Amino acid sequence: MESIQAVRGMNDILPGQIEWWQKVERLAREVLENFGYREIRTPVVEKLELFSRGIGESTDIVEKEMYAFADRKGERLALRPEATASVVRAYIQHNLQADPITQKFFCLGPMFRHERPQKGRYRQFHQIDAEAFGSDDPMLDAEIMYMLRILLERLGLTGVVLHINSLGCPECRKTYRNVLREYLLKQADAFCPDCLRRRDLNPLRVFDCKVERCQSLLEAAPMLLDSICSDCAAHFDKVKIYLDGLQTSHVINPRMVRGLDYYTRTAFEVVTDQLGAQNAVGGGGRYNGLVRDLGGPDLPGIGFAVGMERLILLLQQGQEAQRRMPKVFLAALGDSARHKGFFLTQELRTLGIETEMDYEGRSLKSQMRRADRLNVGHVLIMGEDELAAGRIQLRDMNSKEQFLVPVEKAIEMLKESYLKTIRQDFFP
Ligand code: HAM
Repeated sequence: MESIQAVRGMNDILPGQIEWWQKVERLAREVLENFGYREIRTPVVEKLELFSRGIGESTDIVEKEMYAFADRKGERLALRPEATASVVRAYIQHNLQADPITQKFFCLGPMFRHERPQKGRYRQFHQIDAEAFGSDDPMLDAEIMYMLRILLERLGLTGVVLHINSLGCPECRKTYRNVLREYLLKQADAFCPDCLRRRDLNPLRVFDCKVERCQSLLEAAPMLLDSICSDCAAHFDKVKIYLDGLQTSHVINPRMVRGLDYYTRTAFEVVTDQLGAQNAVGGGGRYNGLVRDLGGPDLPGIGFAVGMERLILLLQQGQEAQRRMPKVFLAALGDSARHKGFFLTQELRTLGIETEMDYEGRSLKSQMRRADRLNVGHVLIMGEDELAAGRIQLRDMNSKEQFLVPVEKAIEMLKESYLKTIRQDFFP
């Protein structure tokens, strides 16, 4: 019978790979919590309107990439293409602005976009997402980019560059929209139909066009950064000063507009030249009108998301996968020894010592080969003779020393080795 494959662009994460994910998730939690962010989990399915209103009707994400569907009752729903709109929805729904403890949240999990899959671009991908509400202080802009830098550094990622820009407020955007529209009108024939449509609808979105010809025409387009008002310019200047104070190097990239409509003022991306076309490891920015536009109080917000697949691709370069292995293998020979060995294996696991055994009744030689492949620290060998004497062979796989000891003594020795030392991380 023909086997069933996973959906295109949606990947399994197998043992040998999952260790990277666990490491990234553990360090992300640690760093984000240090900066006062608390975990939040929202559903992967939301009402479609949340994203069309939050991210913007004329963005690629909403127009072309969303997994949108009607459920059995005809309700219009979507798989989340990002986390910000969902976190804002939860923030409003649960009245979290009244929470005196935290206004900063993070969320780890899968997102869905129907893009053409390639290296670093998938249809189900995962983000580390951070969001902070309630302050428009440029300190917070700098702090969140600093936090992103520390996160990537803790993970050991090098060779990435932080790009920053200011997208201004709705007022300066209005001025810029007209300037840009005029520029686009001048060369109307040269742009693709999508760009022409966007020119009238939402001109800033022409910068998302992937057609090369449009891209090269846009190189000479007027830049938003040149049109921002004095308040937005002052905000941006302070962000840069704080970033300098935090020794967080950055490049000003006036061409970076981000692919989502909700941004105001500071926008940023962390880019790499090591992933081909998919050069953004993470991105984010301020969204001072989003909470209000989604029906909440008029509170500012700022956040970012890092793509975990891209991050892990970069971290893995040149590094062998490190699979998690058990510490102890129990090799038993003969039915009654296997019977006893089964209970001893469970006892060791219950104590917290990762133990594996053979369930197939194979020869001692083949069990020892398996123990070798599993790279365990110790093997317990139990035969009928040892069993009759209440003893067991304990073999240290590093020193190759082997002792015949009472079962209780063997358990004590294993506890000594694996529970009394500070548990060493198996991961490099
Ligand atoms: P975004 O730039 O659309 O921003 O996505 C953030 C990151 O998610 C990207 O830099 C990339 O690493 C990863 N990513 C996006 N699409 C894919 C894909 N198809 N396959 C693999 N990785 C992908 C946002 O999503 C905003 N919500 C970020 C944000 C949070 N802004 C404010 N708060």
